[in-house]
Amino acid sequence: MPIDRRKPMTTKAPIVLAVDTSDLDTAISWVKATADIVSVYKLGLEFFLTFGSDGVNAITQNTEADIFLDLKLHDIAHTVAGAAHAVSSLKPKYLTVHASGGSAMIRAAADALPSTFVTGVTILTSLSETDVEEIGFKDNALDSAVRLAALATHAGARAIVCSPLEIVAIRQSVGSDITIITPGVRPADTAHKDDQARTMTPREAIDRGANLVVIGRPITMSWEKGAQAMRERAIEIAQQINSVH
Ligand code: C5P
Repeated sequence: MPIDRRKPMTTKAPIVLAVDTSDLDTAISWVKATADIVSVYKLGLEFFLTFGSDGVNAITQNTEADIFLDLKLHDIAHTVAGAAHAVSSLKPKYLTVHASGGSAMIRAAADALPSTFVTGVTILTSLSETDVEEIGFKDNALDSAVRLAALATHAGARAIVCSPLEIVAIRQSVGSDITIITPGVRPADTAHKDDQARTMTPREAIDRGANLVVIGRPITMSWEKGAQAMRERAIEIAQQINSVH
């Protein structure tokens, strides 16, 4: 039976909506349009550098969903601890740090924010194997990501960001208690893959063991057709994730 898309959804989907816009009113409208569908809102560097803590608070005032502060911190441990303290009043459920910043840095962030899931970013999904080699990693992207995930979780990270292609290997290495979050997904019915080179559907990523999928443009691009269109797009993707095989 088709669901009534005007009624509030009773269960939220494991979707992290990437709120990638430099307009605060638009960001708030996106949150309002999807509040009963999306589990987590991801606010990135552009958002945070433009609107700061006030911007984050403006978002949290409009939703009870979790906040994913995607700042990808990478600095000496002391500085990262200071940065983590600086955002503690915002109570982000997730805060990203680059796993390649090392154990002491990750531990410093985790100690500074005991209620937050410090989230280790492994290898950026935008990097090719050639890029990974050029940077100087001794292993390929997959093996490097698995090693970084192990390092991060041993140092106190409670969540990992990785490519969908790395979910299975990382899950095997870090166990079931760690939250795996993956961008680089595209719904089955999306023609444009934007800059996502190697993609998987959200459903495939969840089936492989991801706990949350990060989705931006496949949902937010429907905003130009209005709030209801965006909401319906989010519901469509939620249904694709939840549908029975
Ligand atoms: O491509 P989309 O708009 O769905 O991207 C959502 C989020 O996924 C972005 O905010 C970005 O952080 C992340 N992303 C990524 N790798 C890419 C493209 C986007 O990790 N190649």
